Amino acid sequence: MSFKDKVVWITGASSGIGEALAYAFHKQGARLILSARRLKELGRVRENCQGDLSDIHILPFDLTETETHADQVKNAISLYDRIDILVNNGGISQRGLAHETELDVVRQVMEVNFFGAINLTKEVLPHMIRQKSGHIVVMSSVMGKFGTRLRSTYAASKHALHGWYDCLRQETYVHNIDISLVCPGFVKTNVTHNALTADGTPLSEMGAGQMGGMSPEEFARKVMPKLAKQKNEIYIGGREVVAVYVKRFFPNLLNRILQRVKVT
Ligand SMILES: NC(=O)c1ccc[n+]([C@@H]2O[C@H](COP(=O)([O-])OP(=O)(O)OC[C@H]3O[C@@H](n4cnc5c(N)ncnc54)[C@H](OP(=O)(O)O)[C@@H]3O)[C@@H](O)[C@H]2O)c1
Repeated sequence: MSFKDKVVWITGASSGIGEALAYAFHKQGARLILSARRLKELGRVRENCQGDLSDIHILPFDLTETETHADQVKNAISLYDRIDILVNNGGISQRGLAHETELDVVRQVMEVNFFGAINLTKEVLPHMIRQKSGHIVVMSSVMGKFGTRLRSTYAASKHALHGWYDCLRQETYVHNIDISLVCPGFVKTNVTHNALTADGTPLSEMGAGQMGGMSPEEFARKVMPKLAKQKNEIYIGGREVVAVYVKRFFPNLLNRILQRVKVT
């Protein structure tokens, strides 16, 4: 599939992976709607796109304010009369032992990563069903496929996305709507810096894994051809991706390995 003239709505477009995807889709001739909370950063991303900016619109909103989603979808549709691809990318991470992490923090992460994504999808779906086409992309993580220490809430939010969207794929097949769950490994962004700790304060440091991760631009370069093929599930990363396959075929072995691995 070519992205030329496709209308692509990206959440979490103000930094990191979403920003890199905005540049990549723009380069391939897509018409864009960029969303996140920080208006100024969205403006910066728009300005950084090369060439004609007339087909790049900014729609700031908070994913946790689900009561506003229906209006945001109306606003998005009014821009180009359609949405071809929704990229549910906005998200936050978490670092803390499970028993120490406050329930409010668990809820906060779920509100952004799970409820934010699925509610926006629910609001966009009737339009895609009427269009008789669509592609919903979901930024999960390798943490949507297995778990490690200190990430119970984050992994739960990403695993939940797999359950919800795997079921949805079965329902939207008849409407010509594809679902791609993307599972990145380490990508060098602010995700760990912004991660919520046990009491809800941000970690405010870049994790060692992130430091050694691929750049968001490299990630975007690798994911675009797979999105063009509308693959159901996409894994992109370093050796952490191997763990996805070890979990599938040798789950007890992965458990033993991860018990010994240093995680940050
Ligand atoms: N980097 C990695 O290694 C990695 C690995 C696996 C999966 N992922 C996933 O990739 C996605 C993007 O993360 P990233 O690595 O690019 O980190 P990032 O640079 O921190 O980007 C997160 C994006 O989400 C937006 N966001 C956060 N809370 C929001 C809210 N309440 N409402 C609306 N937007 C919100 C942020 O924008 P505002 O702050 O402007 O709202 C920002 O644009 C996330 O879903 C993350 O879980 C990342």
